[in-house]
Amino acid sequence: MSSSKVSKSTITDELTQKVISLCQRRAILFPNSDIYGGAAGFFDYGPYGCELKKRIENSWWKTFVQSREDIVGIDGAIITSPRVWVASGHVAAFNDPLVDCMKCKSRHRADTLVEDELKISVDGFSLDKLGALIKEHKIVCQKCGGELSVARKFNLMFSTHVGAVQDESSIAYLRPETAQLMFADFKIVQQAMRKKLPFGIAQIGKAFRNEIAPRNFVFRCREFSQMEIEFFIHPKLVNSCPLLTKETLEKKVQMITAAEQEKGKEGKMETMTIADALSKHVIKTQWHGYWLITCLEWLYSLGITPANLRLREHVKTELSHYSIETWDIEYNYPWGWKELQGIANRTDFDLTQHQKESGKDLSYFDEENKERVTPHVIEPSIGVDRVFFTVLLDAYRENASDKGSTSTLALHPDIAPVQVAIFPLMKKDGLAEKGRAVFEMLRSEFVCEYDESGSIGKRYARQDEVGTPFCITVDYDSLQNNDVTIRERDSGNQKRVPISKLKEVIECSFGEYCPLSGSKK
Ligand code: GAP
Repeated sequence: MSSSKVSKSTITDELTQKVISLCQRRAILFPNSDIYGGAAGFFDYGPYGCELKKRIENSWWKTFVQSREDIVGIDGAIITSPRVWVASGHVAAFNDPLVDCMKCKSRHRADTLVEDELKISVDGFSLDKLGALIKEHKIVCQKCGGELSVARKFNLMFSTHVGAVQDESSIAYLRPETAQLMFADFKIVQQAMRKKLPFGIAQIGKAFRNEIAPRNFVFRCREFSQMEIEFFIHPKLVNSCPLLTKETLEKKVQMITAAEQEKGKEGKMETMTIADALSKHVIKTQWHGYWLITCLEWLYSLGITPANLRLREHVKTELSHYSIETWDIEYNYPWGWKELQGIANRTDFDLTQHQKESGKDLSYFDEENKERVTPHVIEPSIGVDRVFFTVLLDAYRENASDKGSTSTLALHPDIAPVQVAIFPLMKKDGLAEKGRAVFEMLRSEFVCEYDESGSIGKRYARQDEVGTPFCITVDYDSLQNNDVTIRERDSGNQKRVPISKLKEVIECSFGEYCPLSGSKK
C-alpha cells in the first residue's frame, strides 16, 4: 500500500515512521481513499484501529460520564445553525497564519514553517512577529524556494450549503469543535436533567478543520473526533472545588508556566504538587487544578508514561479568544513537547455570546441565593485520534533476536483491540475443536481472536504487533487435563491454567496486579 498522503517530509524520526508503517501494514489506521491517491488530512481506521479507538472513547465515557453523577452526555449534530459559529467567534476569529508562495502558489502555515526552519517554538507569536521572522531569516517556500507573501489569517472552518439553493443565505459550517452544542443546549439539558451547579455536559464526536498543513499522521488532520466536557460552575465558586481531596492535592506533576516561557526560549520545567501550584497562584482556580489532575490521571490509566506528560500554561498572546487561562497537557513526541489536550477557563464567554445572538435566556437560577447567574466553564478538550496516536507511540517496543527484530505494542489490556488470542497447536486430532470451545467460552467476556494458521511463534508475533496482552495455546495435554498455556505479552511468561479458571486469571490480570508476571503494571 502506498502512503501517498502521509507527508514523509514532515516525519523525520524513526519511531514515528515505524509506528505509521505498522499502522499501514496491519490496516490499523491508514490514509483515506488511498486507491485514488488519497485525501490529505483524512484517515480510515481498519478493524484493529477502530476497536482500539472505540475502547479509548468507551474508557473516557465511562470515566467522565457513566461513573459520575455530575456529568451528562449528549450527541449533537455536525451541522448547526451558522449563527452558533457567529456567536462563538469562530466566523471572525478561528484562524491560522497563512503565507502564499509568490512563485508556485502553494500555501504554508506560517507558524509551522518558522518552527521547521528555525527549530524554535513559536507558540503564541503574533502574525507580525511571524512575518518579521520569515523576513529576517529569509525563509522561502519549502516546495520551490520561491519568495513568500506577507502572513495573513486563514479561517479553518469547512463550509457547505444546506438545501437546494446555494447562496450566502444557505451557508453552513461543519463544526470545528463539539463544544458549542453543549453551550447552545445548556438550558434544555440542565432543566430536563434537573442538574444543579456545578455540573458538566460531555460529548464525543467528529470535528472538522481545514488545516493548512495537516501533519504528523493523525496528530493534525482535517477530520477528527473530540471528547469534550463543558463543566459549568457558579461564577463565585470557580475557586472552590470540593472534589479536590488531600490525596489529589499532593500529586506531583511536571509543569511549565507562562511566566517561565516569557523569560526565555523554551522555559524551565518544574515538578510541583497541585496544592503548591494553587497556593502560588500558578494555577489560578481550584476547579482548573481539579480538571488538570483528573485529565492527567485518565491518560495515566491508558498506560501512557507519566514522565512523557507535562502541563504547559498558554502565554497571553496564545490564548484563544474565549479563554482567560489555558493549560495544555503536552506529550513528549519525537518532534518535541506538543499539545495532547487543552483545558481552558472559558468563563461565561460562550453562554453570554449565545444569549446575545439568540436572544434567549441561558442563565441559571441559584435557589440558595435567589439570584440568576451565568455559569463559568472549565473545558477539558481532547482529540481521540491524537490520544490514539500518542498511545501507539508510547507503547511501541522492538524486540531484537537472532531471527531479526519484531515489534510489540505494550497496550494496556483495557484498550487493546484484541484482549485474548486463542491458538490450537495443530488443526488436527481435536485440537482445533478444543481451541474453538475455549474461544467461544471467553468471547462473551473479552475481545478474542482465534488463529490456527502458521507456527506458534508467528502467531505470537502477529498478536504482539497489535498489542494482544494474552495468548492461549491449546495442546495435546489440554485434551487430557483440560488446561492450557497462557502467555503474557510483555514478560513472555507462560503458565499452565485450568480452562475452568481462565476467565478469573485473565480478569485478575487486567487490574493493577498481574499474577502472570508477578509484577506491578
Ligand atoms: N473546544 C476547544 C478546542 O477545540 P483545541 O485546542 O482547538 O480546543 C482540542 O482542540 C483538542 O482537539 C486538541 O488538544 C487536540 O487533542 C484535538 N485537535 C485539535 N485539532 C486537531 C487536529 N487538526 N487533528 C487532530 N486533533 C486535533
